Amino acid sequence: MINKNFKRLPQSYLFQELAQKKNKLVSEGHDVVALGIGDPDLETPKPIRQALSKEVIRRYHKYPDSEGILELREELARYYQKRFRVKLLAENVLISFGAKTDLFDAVRVFSNIGDVIAVQDPAYPVYENSILFEGRDIKYLPCNKDNNFMPDYSVLDKDVAMVYLCYPNNPTGAVASKKYLQELIKSLKQINALLVFDIAYADFGPAEAPSIFSIPGAKDVAIEFGSFSKPYSMTGYRLSWSAIKNKELLDAWIKFRNNRDSGCSNYIQKAGIIALQNKEVENIAKKNMKEYRKRARVLQKGFESLGLEVYGLAHTPYAWITIPKGYTSRDFAEKLLQEAKVLITPGSGFGPSGEGYVRATIFQSEQRIKEAVKRIKNLYPL
Ligand code: MLT
Repeated sequence: MINKNFKRLPQSYLFQELAQKKNKLVSEGHDVVALGIGDPDLETPKPIRQALSKEVIRRYHKYPDSEGILELREELARYYQKRFRVKLLAENVLISFGAKTDLFDAVRVFSNIGDVIAVQDPAYPVYENSILFEGRDIKYLPCNKDNNFMPDYSVLDKDVAMVYLCYPNNPTGAVASKKYLQELIKSLKQINALLVFDIAYADFGPAEAPSIFSIPGAKDVAIEFGSFSKPYSMTGYRLSWSAIKNKELLDAWIKFRNNRDSGCSNYIQKAGIIALQNKEVENIAKKNMKEYRKRARVLQKGFESLGLEVYGLAHTPYAWITIPKGYTSRDFAEKLLQEAKVLITPGSGFGPSGEGYVRATIFQSEQRIKEAVKRIKNLYPL
């Protein structure tokens, strides 16, 4: 009676498992320093909250348009021009309720049973889970310090129908150069595979992180998903977009969305318009990024002082950290949680190549990050 592909999924969703463990300790009275899920702790800028409250008290809330409010789509087209110097029409942008959903749905819309789908390894677990759940075959593209966390795309062959990539990368923090993406797009054209490009962290660091549409020729072989969650502390709002330039791909996505859902609530979208339009929001977002950069330095120094190698951080809210010898990433994360009450994410939760690493976020104050490092130091020698 139940879809047999559930058996292919991990026992529980990575961040749900971590939340349950944390909640248990908190309910027992422990103070846990949570450096697990990437959930910004700084408040949502006031103009966004004000826009939401103003809209939410309206007497009628009718069905939204499943493609999104035109004004928000136009605003995003302007964002692409300003941020990436990419020309995009409002009709190429669709509004959605969180990139997680879109990233999961891409497999069923853009591939078929029997297809092989390639995924960066390590990667945001939703990609892999969707591939497994939709009954497709998976091909891991290992990313490690020897290849600067950039997968070797020469291994892609004609069996591969789709590829998931995220840059700036969650969890490793690597940023793809335009040159790398140009070569990748050329290869994808040769094998006729679709790139699903996740830019949830494009605005999280000083890097000139490109949109995939900054790359010539990407139009027909790539689609892109972006999110309001992290740059505007809007994870709980559930607001994101998909950008699709190719007409056939766009039509398929629209048809899917029209059938599958009734769109994102209008009051949330109105708040999104303010996030993109309002000068005060822009200034707050810049100030928040400065704060995050400061914390990143503290976290980096702290974990390095424990004798561990720290990657990432410059362009994402994540540190990708090696673990001491003699542990699996799960064992090490469990030890830190149970004995130091510090929650970090085991690297193996992001794929086989994540073994040997853990991931920590900068979504805690400087003082709490220092506290986490102090608690871990107290466990030494391990
Ligand atoms: C993460 O921590 O990798 C993400 O924030 C989780 C998510 O977006 O679902």
